[in-house]
Amino acid sequence: MVAKQEDVNATDVSIPEELPVLPSGGNILYPSIMVPVATGEPRVLKLIDDAVADNKLIALFAERDQEAAGHANLYRIGTAAHIARMLKWPDGSIQLYLRGLARIELKEITQEDPYLRGKVEVKEEVPEESAELAALSRNLLTLFQKVVQLAPNLPQEVGAAVLNIPKPSNLTDFIASHLNITTEESQELLETISVAERIRKLTGYINRELELLELGSKIQTQIKGEMDKAQREYYLREQLKAIQKELGEGDEHTTELNELREKIEEAQLPEEAMKEAERELDRLSRMHPAAAEYSVARTYIDWLISLPWAKSTEDHLDIAEAKEVLDTDHYDLEKVKDRVLDYLAVHKLRHDMKGPILCFVGPPGTGKTSVGHSVARALGREFVRMSLGGMHDEAEIRGHRRTYVGALPGRIIQGIRRAESNNPVFMLDEIDKVGADFRGDPASALLEVLDPEQNYAFVDHYLDVPFDFSKVMFITTANMLDPIPPALKDRMEVIELVGYTEQEKLQIARNYLVPRQLVENGLTADKLELSDEVLLRIISDYTREAGVRNLEREIGSVCRKVARKVAEGISEIPQVMPDKLHDYLGPDRFRYELAGEADEVGVATGMAWTIAGGDVLFVEASLIPGKGDFVITGKLGDVMQESARATLTYVRSRASDFGIDADFYKKKDVHIHVPAGAIPKDGPSAGVTMAVALVSAATKLPVSKDIAMTGEITLRGKVLPVGGIKEKVLAAHRAGIKSVILPKENEKDLEEIPQQVKDELEFFFVERIDDAIMKTIHPSPSRKTKAPKKSIP
Ligand SMILES: Nc1ncnc2c1ncn2[C@@H]1O[C@H](COP(=O)(O)OP(=O)(O)OP(=O)(O)O)[C@@H](O)[C@H]1O
Ligand SMILES: [Mg+2]
Repeated sequence: MVAKQEDVNATDVSIPEELPVLPSGGNILYPSIMVPVATGEPRVLKLIDDAVADNKLIALFAERDQEAAGHANLYRIGTAAHIARMLKWPDGSIQLYLRGLARIELKEITQEDPYLRGKVEVKEEVPEESAELAALSRNLLTLFQKVVQLAPNLPQEVGAAVLNIPKPSNLTDFIASHLNITTEESQELLETISVAERIRKLTGYINRELELLELGSKIQTQIKGEMDKAQREYYLREQLKAIQKELGEGDEHTTELNELREKIEEAQLPEEAMKEAERELDRLSRMHPAAAEYSVARTYIDWLISLPWAKSTEDHLDIAEAKEVLDTDHYDLEKVKDRVLDYLAVHKLRHDMKGPILCFVGPPGTGKTSVGHSVARALGREFVRMSLGGMHDEAEIRGHRRTYVGALPGRIIQGIRRAESNNPVFMLDEIDKVGADFRGDPASALLEVLDPEQNYAFVDHYLDVPFDFSKVMFITTANMLDPIPPALKDRMEVIELVGYTEQEKLQIARNYLVPRQLVENGLTADKLELSDEVLLRIISDYTREAGVRNLEREIGSVCRKVARKVAEGISEIPQVMPDKLHDYLGPDRFRYELAGEADEVGVATGMAWTIAGGDVLFVEASLIPGKGDFVITGKLGDVMQESARATLTYVRSRASDFGIDADFYKKKDVHIHVPAGAIPKDGPSAGVTMAVALVSAATKLPVSKDIAMTGEITLRGKVLPVGGIKEKVLAAHRAGIKSVILPKENEKDLEEIPQQVKDELEFFFVERIDDAIMKTIHPSPSRKTKAPKKSIP
């Protein structure tokens, strides 16, 4: 058996004087309310058993302190209840349904065991009926309806049920039992016999409850409101469109936006760029086209969609063809060409290769930029070039943030856009001329661009989304290696292009420069023929450079003069003859000072390494009566000045060996000067030259002017190796020098020097300064050297 059902139908019962008393803890039962109660307590079971057997009536009293026991703890006012239904569970516990009958007062306890019994007295309500009561109860009803609407835990049926309670007294009890109030408050309501009074109290509680509920619901609405915002915006935007359409301004704008949207989809943007583009487009759609902000957002989107995010050109990977292209464009430059073909070969084998960064270093006009161009042609890639010379501002590389007025992406991104492909050959010219100042350091931004470990996600400040540079082949150029920041140098593979010899220049002129200048000046080979002799004369008398830029310019001048004659209709154009060159180019620009000049006392010929490749220079030393001052002039750097002092010390220490008065430096002022005083010079490599000039000045014996020398010296007179041998030797050769004195340890550097030059020069390798002095200073002051031959074959 699961449960037993009791039959109850007593409704209007008279309440006896004495009843079993059931303490109900904190629970309060109001008259006319039915509540379920479950219990398994033996005392209570006995009480219920007896009550059911008797008249099914019990008295319920709440307790003041739920921890305390004893009947003194019971409230004096309680409720008489009828056991409407009882279910017995198999475990012995029971479930009761109690219906409240009337308010009662506990007069005295008559029995304590096995359960409480007591004398009770019914507290009769005084029947009230007034307009005020009706109004109060109607108000109460309305308030309660609101509570039902707001309270999440009250079912809507409660709201309906309350409408069907006609008696104000029952109404208050019903509402009180559904309100969220404390035991004390409930008890107070129970004890309030006057219905009007009860309604007033209840109205107070209900208002308090309502306030709490309304606050809660306000918070709720706020949270929900935020979630709905996106949806709302959508509707508003739709409305805006409708309004704009009404005003007649929507259409053009919408078309523009639709076009942009299409372009964005076509541009194959990577995810991040796509997001940014869509965000900007969204902003755009809400702006008036005349707003200043509009064009900013529009420009930004234009930039995004115009970049070749996914556009690459296909590489020509045929090595033989590439070699042909490189050879057609440039004479010699074998090292560069080889390196490029190697790159191509590796690239052919593995496609994901991270491009090396080549750095072409060499004097001006040696073909660095133009060979980069032809590398692009050989690979079948686009070519972009950008000069870094004089760049001080990091933002030029990295761009300005969009918040700046007139902001643009950096020059690298601009170059990529110009290339219209994401794998061009990108030439960064003059990387040795970037500077750093308060606007930041472009070199550090360059580092990020060039570093294969980072450049697959280069973030330009303007774009603010990463762009992949890993497929770009970067080539940098520089005139000098030293000024390049070490961190940059480290990431590049340096390939040196040294200057050309006269013979090489002749080849270049004949095969490349002349044909090009003819075309540029609208001439053909039958109108103008430039013999080798003429070309060599231009090379030696009109240019002095490591490269061929001026040579090309001079050839261009000759071409223009001839073109003019052709244009003037002169039919018989005379051949350009070597000795008639001044008619075309004016007087010779460079006469070798050496030619026909006598050797001098105190002047030695040195070799220097300059931006232009190399040059010869003269060091002058002079001893004049004085009190022992040492003067150095000619804009010499610290290292060179120190080197001069060391030289003097050495000469003093060896004075007697050279046959010089040991006190010469006390009675005379010593002056060392290096002409071309406006050009800064530095480095230790003029040590040998200064020593020779000084000894010559002190001994009054002349120095051979056609022997050029270089080398650092120590205080003990040892000659140490120096750099730039190749450039220096080529420069000496250009200048018509016959013999060259080099430090012994530099002998190995001769390997790099063209055979023709080696054949035409005499080399002396020295370990001690004395050897150099012996080679250059003549024993007899009367001897004259013959003029050096010019190297016209
Ligand atoms: N080996 C060569 N063969 C054919 N032409 C050459 C060669 N070297 C240089 N040229 C020509 O010389 C001219 C100058 O070269 P380019 O502008 O590349 O010099 P550069 O090394 O970049 O000089 P700079 O350091 O001043 O930038 C170009 O017209 C180029 O074609
Ligand atoms: Mg260049």
